[in-house]
Amino acid sequence: MAKVDTSSSRPYHIVIFGASGFTGQFVVEEVARTVSEGPNGSLTWAVAGRSRQKLDKVLEQTAGTLGKPELRTAVEVIVADVGEPDSLAAMCKQAVIVLNCVGPYRFWGEPVVKACVENGAHCIDISGEPQFLESMQLNYDSQAADKGVYIVGACGFDSIPADMGVLYTRDQFKGTLTALESFLTASTGPEGGSINDGTWKSAIYGFADSGKLRSLRKKFGHKPLPVVGSKIKRRYREVQQYAVPFMGADPSVVKRSQRFLLEEHQETPVQYGAYAGVGGVANIVKMLFAGMMFWFLVKFSFGRDLLIKYPEFFSFGFFSKDGPTRKQMEGSSFKFAFYGEGYTEGQDPSQGRPNAKIRTLVQGPEAGYVATPIAMVQAAITILNEPTALPKKGGVYTPGATFAKTKLVERLNKHGIQFSSLVSEVPV
Ligand SMILES: NC(=O)c1ccc[n+]([C@@H]2O[C@H](COP(=O)([O-])OP(=O)(O)OC[C@H]3O[C@@H](n4cnc5c(N)ncnc54)[C@H](OP(=O)(O)O)[C@@H]3O)[C@@H](O)[C@H]2O)c1
Repeated sequence: MAKVDTSSSRPYHIVIFGASGFTGQFVVEEVARTVSEGPNGSLTWAVAGRSRQKLDKVLEQTAGTLGKPELRTAVEVIVADVGEPDSLAAMCKQAVIVLNCVGPYRFWGEPVVKACVENGAHCIDISGEPQFLESMQLNYDSQAADKGVYIVGACGFDSIPADMGVLYTRDQFKGTLTALESFLTASTGPEGGSINDGTWKSAIYGFADSGKLRSLRKKFGHKPLPVVGSKIKRRYREVQQYAVPFMGADPSVVKRSQRFLLEEHQETPVQYGAYAGVGGVANIVKMLFAGMMFWFLVKFSFGRDLLIKYPEFFSFGFFSKDGPTRKQMEGSSFKFAFYGEGYTEGQDPSQGRPNAKIRTLVQGPEAGYVATPIAMVQAAITILNEPTALPKKGGVYTPGATFAKTKLVERLNKHGIQFSSLVSEVPV
C-alpha cells in the first residue's frame, strides 16, 4: 500500500472533530491557547462537526472566554458527519492530525479511524473504552503502519496520567522497576462537581457488552506478559482512605504499552495495579448500592434506557446531563500516587525479593474537561514537534507506546499536569 502524505503541507495541523460536544468545546479553547507551541511557533487549526450552527456558537463562546474576537472569523468550520464517509474523507484530507471528540466511540469511532487511515491523517482520541481501543488495534494497525499514520487512543485523563505515570516512575528508578500500584483520588471544591453524561453513556454500553471484550482479546493470540520480580500484591486499602480496584481503561492501556515496549525495545514489563480512593465506609456502601443497581440494569435494554435518562439519580450525582460548571471545574483536581518496587542496579530480578521502592505523584486540575483537553492537545503538539521520537512506523498505539521516547511528560508539566518523584529508591 502506498504511503500517504501526512505532512504539514495540509491546510491544518489540527482539526477538532466533535468540537461542539461538551468536551470538544474545551478542546477548542485549549488549542486556541496553545497555538504558539505548533511547529515553528504556529499552529493552523479548524473545527469540525455535524452542525455548522453549533460550531459557530462554540467559536463565538471561545472568542469571548479567551478575549480573542478574531477566532469568530479566522477559524475555519468543516461540516462532517460520522454517517457520511465522504464528509469524513474531505475533513481528514485537510488535517495533519484529527482530534476526535465524538463519542461514545463504540458507536461513532470506527468510521473516523478508517477515514484517517485511508486519507493519511493521524488521529488522537480520548476514548476510555477498551473494546473500541483494542478492536481498532486489531483491525487497523497494519493498515495504519502501511500508510505511516499514528492512531493514538486514550489520550485524555483516561489514560495519559496512568500510562505516562508508569513510564515516568520506571525512568526515575535506577535499576529495574518490577511492580507498581496507583491510587487515584479526585477532589472537588465547595461547589462540588460532576462528569458529563457522554462518559456515562460510554460506560453503560461498555459494561453491557463486556463479554465481547474477552473474545476480542483472544483474537490477538498474545501470550501472558512475563512476570519479572516478585508477583504484585493486590491491595484494597490505602493509608488515608478506602480504595477499590479502578474500573476504567487504565490497567488495559498500561498493559498494552508494556507489551509494546517489551516487544519493540526489549524493556522489562512492569506489573501494574490500579485503585481508586472512595473515602470512608459511607461512600463504600453508596458505591456498592449504585454498583449493584448499575450491574443489574445495564444488562437489559430498558435498564440502559433508564440509566441514560436519569444519570444523576443512578450515579448519586456523579454524572449529570449538564456536566460540571466552570466554577466546579476550577475547584476540582486529581492525584495519582504511585507506589513501586524493584531491584537496584546490579541486583538480579529473578533472585529474591525487591530491594528498593519508589513513590511518585501525578497530579493536575479537574480531570474530565481541564486535564483531558490539556493531555489531548499536548499529545498532538508532541506528534507535530517530535516526529523522530515516535515509534518508527505508523500503527494503532497507546499513549505509552507512542510517547515513551518523547518529551510529553515535560510538556504536560508545563501545562499543570505535574509528574514528580517523592521518594526514590529507599531500601525495602
Ligand atoms: N478520556 C477521558 O478522560 C474523557 C474525558 C471526557 C470525555 N471523554 C469521552 O469523550 C466522548 C465525548 O464526551 P462528551 O461528554 O463531550 O459527549 P457529548 O457532549 O455528547 O459530545 C458528543 C459529540 O459527538 C458529536 N456527534 C455525535 N454523533 C455525531 C455524528 N453522527 N457525526 C458527527 N458528530 C457527532 C456531537 O455533535 P453535536 O454537538 O452536533 O450533537 C458532539 O459534538 C465520550 O466518549 C467520553 O467518554 C473522555
